[in-house]
Amino acid sequence: MTVKKEVLFEGKAKRVSATDDPELLWVEYLDQATALNGKRKETIAGKGTLNLQISALLFQEITAAGVPTHYVDTPDQGSMIVRKAKMLPLEVVLRNYASGHFETKFHVKHLLSFKPAIHEYYYKSDALDDPFINNDQIQALGIADAATLAKVRALTDQVNDFLTARFAKAGIKLVDFKLEFGTLADGSLVLADELSPDNFRLVDDATGDSLDKDVFRKHAGELQPVYREVLRRLQASK
Ligand code: C5P
Repeated sequence: MTVKKEVLFEGKAKRVSATDDPELLWVEYLDQATALNGKRKETIAGKGTLNLQISALLFQEITAAGVPTHYVDTPDQGSMIVRKAKMLPLEVVLRNYASGHFETKFHVKHLLSFKPAIHEYYYKSDALDDPFINNDQIQALGIADAATLAKVRALTDQVNDFLTARFAKAGIKLVDFKLEFGTLADGSLVLADELSPDNFRLVDDATGDSLDKDVFRKHAGELQPVYREVLRRLQASK
């Protein structure tokens, strides 16, 4: 059994600790919601365990579907054991439909469909406020080489195919999402971070209602019942 050791890092919604195994980390999902790159912060009781359960369910299924991930185990209702990875400082955003920043930037119709889906990259830097960055800029800054970027793109498409079909089974449209990747000690690329409604835009097929963090971002109601509904539907459509 893996034993939790000292806290290494606390982010906006997760706390990462060392374990008795140097290859493994212990990640606790916190009851915190942030918006505006952390400038707005609130505690939402129960959010951490809901996100953990959604994330664990999706990581287990996506790993079984052949996507390499950092996921190892779920030791309790609020924690995940993951393999230690050197994270690429990139947020990889994939858009199947227009929403959020794309919609406001280009003034296009809400939920305009994109086929093929749009891939975007943002450079993870609090000091720079996570700016948009393109392929050439990523390579010029030495963040990732062309081969790594090609793998990131292929894995993101694979994740999108899987998640789009998986959410469709639960009566949910996958509008867009953000992924993060890292490399393991052996140099292999894995999907890391989390897979939860904090990082997805989800729309109820029947009602068009938001089933994700937009509820918090737009002050449109309580987040916890919405996340609970996402988990319920994913479990019911296994
Ligand atoms: O805000 P924007 O439209 O660029 O977001 C696209 C997708 O990426 C959304 O699903 C959002 O939840 C996710 N995202 C994220 N973390 C960020 C920025 C965006 O999870 N820092």
